[in-house]
Amino acid sequence: MKTSTPWLLTLLAACGGATAPTAPQTTSDDAAVDHQAELPPAPAGDATHTPPAPGVYPEGPFGEAVKRGEALFMDTPGNAGRYVGSSLSCKNCHLDNGRTADSAPMWGAIGMYPAYRKKNDKVNTMEERIQGCFVYSMNAQDSEAGEPPPLGDPILTDIQAYAYWLGQGVPLGEAQPGRGFPELDAPAQTPDVTRGAEVYAQHCASCHGPEGQGVLAGDKVVFPPLWGEGGYNWGAGMHRVNTAAGFIWANMPFGQGRTLTEQQAWDVATFINSQERPADPRQTGAIADNDASFHDHDCQYGEDHDGRTLGEGLK
Ligand code: HEC
Ligand code: HEC
Repeated sequence: MKTSTPWLLTLLAACGGATAPTAPQTTSDDAAVDHQAELPPAPAGDATHTPPAPGVYPEGPFGEAVKRGEALFMDTPGNAGRYVGSSLSCKNCHLDNGRTADSAPMWGAIGMYPAYRKKNDKVNTMEERIQGCFVYSMNAQDSEAGEPPPLGDPILTDIQAYAYWLGQGVPLGEAQPGRGFPELDAPAQTPDVTRGAEVYAQHCASCHGPEGQGVLAGDKVVFPPLWGEGGYNWGAGMHRVNTAAGFIWANMPFGQGRTLTEQQAWDVATFINSQERPADPRQTGAIADNDASFHDHDCQYGEDHDGRTLGEGLK
């Protein structure tokens, strides 16, 4: 965040801060659509849905699809590696394999699609929404295929079957408490990279590594990277400071969610999202142009930081 800018104004500005809020310049037939538009806040209250426990699956072909979807969700590079350009798996952000409330659980999503999304001006199916996480969170541009699995691919239909199984009994079209990530109150102090670095060193680096690179055992991820080549890209929902702050406050340090103060979560979310990561796949020209078109939300894309312009991207 630009420290000279009052917090609320910064929230309203495009990420670079220099440009006034601009409507996205995409059209409905533009391939570069924003599948990571922010979710509306979930209804207040504790989650009421209990998803089925792992290990007991439906009989027959549906059960087989659920099992394949679960395996894809748990180990995405291992089972859909051709389309994964990061080191991440779905479950790294959608915790307990998509079961945990306030961690964008799949049972909170499945009943809400198809959904009209303002940012790409069309009704998105669940498959298209999953494609969005492949494009941005999984950085498909740097994968072998260079793109997400095509619509109708068993990878998408199996993940969809898995989400459907987790969400059985959830009323269709009714947003559930626990959907998405929690929305924190605006921070008392403007989020600060230096304070965030201190939170990071004290509460995060032991697992995610001093350089945010995570920990790998061979090619298996033990602790996922938060930035760098293996992380989510500049178009992913997690690069928004408010989204990351809500996720972190509710879920991190792993196993100790809700132990940081909200201010610490804002600060550390600002810190990790001031680090370089793979480019926004929608970026074709100047960072400033992409910033104006696609980053009209709470993030640091296009800001100057330590002598570099954030968003240049790695690889
Ligand atoms: C780097 C973290 C990250 C990874 C990895 C990730 N996602 Fe997401 N996912 C998000 C974020 C952030 C959102 C949007 C939440 C918001 O806007 O509040 C989201 C949203 C979703 C939604 C919509 C949720 C809803 O309630 O509407 C679905 C479905 C989804 N992801 C599926 C997947 C699948 C399947 C994978 C693996 C192929 C995956 N995600 C990998 C971070 C991630
Ligand atoms: C005890 C180890 C541990 C600590 C400490 C920890 N994390 Fe994590 N973190 C994890 C694990 C494990 C996952 C993936 C969860 C899964 O796959 O079930 C994760 C996932 C994440 C993710 C989403 C996936 C990604 O790589 O982008 C973010 C963001 C994150 N952690 C941030 C933080 C922050 C910020 C802190 C410090 C406040 C922190 N974590 C502290 C273990 C830890």
